[in-house]
Amino acid sequence: MVIHDVVVIGAGLAGMRAAIEAARNGVNVAVVSKVHPIRSHSVSAQGGINAAIAMNDSWNAHAFDTVKGSDYLGDQDAIEILCKEAPEDIFELDNMGCLFSRDDKGSIAQRPFGGAGFPRTCYAADRTGHAILNTLYEQLLRHGVPVYEEWFVVSLAVENGICRGLIAIDIHTGKLHRLHVKAIILATGGYGRVYQNSTNALINTGDGMGLALNSGAELMDMEFVQFHPTTLKSTGILISEGARGEGGYLLNSKGERFMKRYAPNALELASRDVVSRAEQQEIEDGRGVDGCVLLDLRHLGEALINERLPQIRQLAIDFEGIDPLKELVPIKPGAHYSMGGIKTDVWGATNIKGIYAAGECACVSVHGANRLGGNSLLDAVVFGRRAGYAASHYAKEAALEDFPEAVLKDAARDISIIMNRTSGERVAGLRNELASAMTVYVGVFRDKDRMDKALTKIRELRELYKNINLEDKGEIFNTELISVFELGHLLTIAECIVIAAINRNESRGAHYRLDFPTRDDKNWLKHVLLFKDGGGIKFGYKDVAVTRYKPMERKY
Ligand code: FUM
Repeated sequence: MVIHDVVVIGAGLAGMRAAIEAARNGVNVAVVSKVHPIRSHSVSAQGGINAAIAMNDSWNAHAFDTVKGSDYLGDQDAIEILCKEAPEDIFELDNMGCLFSRDDKGSIAQRPFGGAGFPRTCYAADRTGHAILNTLYEQLLRHGVPVYEEWFVVSLAVENGICRGLIAIDIHTGKLHRLHVKAIILATGGYGRVYQNSTNALINTGDGMGLALNSGAELMDMEFVQFHPTTLKSTGILISEGARGEGGYLLNSKGERFMKRYAPNALELASRDVVSRAEQQEIEDGRGVDGCVLLDLRHLGEALINERLPQIRQLAIDFEGIDPLKELVPIKPGAHYSMGGIKTDVWGATNIKGIYAAGECACVSVHGANRLGGNSLLDAVVFGRRAGYAASHYAKEAALEDFPEAVLKDAARDISIIMNRTSGERVAGLRNELASAMTVYVGVFRDKDRMDKALTKIRELRELYKNINLEDKGEIFNTELISVFELGHLLTIAECIVIAAINRNESRGAHYRLDFPTRDDKNWLKHVLLFKDGGGIKFGYKDVAVTRYKPMERKY
């Protein structure tokens, strides 16, 4: 059995930043990740990271934009922390050697992004996640933090509400391992693969949220799924908001800049929920082109595109056969980000002693009903650092609790049942059916009838899942076995999204109900909590923290 003070699950921005902070605090910390750290999904973040670092900007303005973007559901105390601490975290990344793009004076360059009243998104061309992730990986190595890479966490060991460790499978060998620890930081990212059309990597299966819920933690704001307005027609690959930040237009089939009808002031740079809905409306009203609208970058010119948006140009060429220098790019809304996640306080603590969470899998909640572009990398860095700090201080004080041996036996028994089954359902088929139902029934526009259909489908699939059968019966690199666990989490998350969305009888941010088309602050200015109770999922509620920004109508 391996012993550590703190183990971080996930090696994206939040996970690595947390591990570095824990190492700085002198505890014995390790990282477990199902992929090599620099294959974590943060690597594909494109457009940038927000911070009020310009002389004529302020954290207060950043906080106001974030609260407004959240449709007033974000907790303002947490948002104030995010925006106040942002500049220092950016300068620290810069000092670590992160290759941010520079302006004419040599300062970190910033571009306009949606929903922001100031150009405050720092960037590294359109490969910002790549630049920060590699910088943090260097620091992880520098601090000598061990990484159990290509290990998949099967279960958390929690007894009497206290974290004791985890069980992970080494994908190379198929062997199960116990990691006996005082504190765990979940930093496993999002669940975009609940949907068919998604910017997310295939690895984004909501593992941390599923593990947390199964262990007694609460999830919050799960009804809020962000659809990014610009994803490539055939693949759902992200075309950064930076494209519109640099001046790109959205056109319908008539060649009209339709955003003037939906957001007359901000146009293409309204918040993402507003732009995605506008696009979907255009498509549904017959002004789309083959299920898409069109992104026009031609007027930006070759020099700007090659300097600031080189990756999206290449992605459009490689995956759509379209060169944005000369042609219009067909795009549509695609599942991108989870505003909801494991409920934490501003130090990443959950309701389970010794279990912390940070990044997309967590819900502090700084994004509320809709996240602003550029605030996700920031959330990962700020609250990753904070979770690393808090978990390491907890671990210094806490005793190493006994490891409940039954957890290992249960995991081994469950795997053996799956491996020895000789007939049944295939993972891929069920996963496709789930993604298809979520895409058709729980998208940009929602209503009770469609969501009821989704729930029925999810529950049918859950029954079929009990009889999953593998083609690969081997121990070495059995990714089919890993995909069984991933599908279990996807089903859990999908059910959470749908029951929370059916429950919220209003429209707010990314949750738009055709049958309840207005925001209802009287009844719904509150967070929905979900937790397991006796096998089923139950609801709770939490008030929104309002400090200085009074809820008002949101206009762009
Ligand atoms: O559009 C983008 O570059 C994505 C940024 C984000 O989600 O924060």
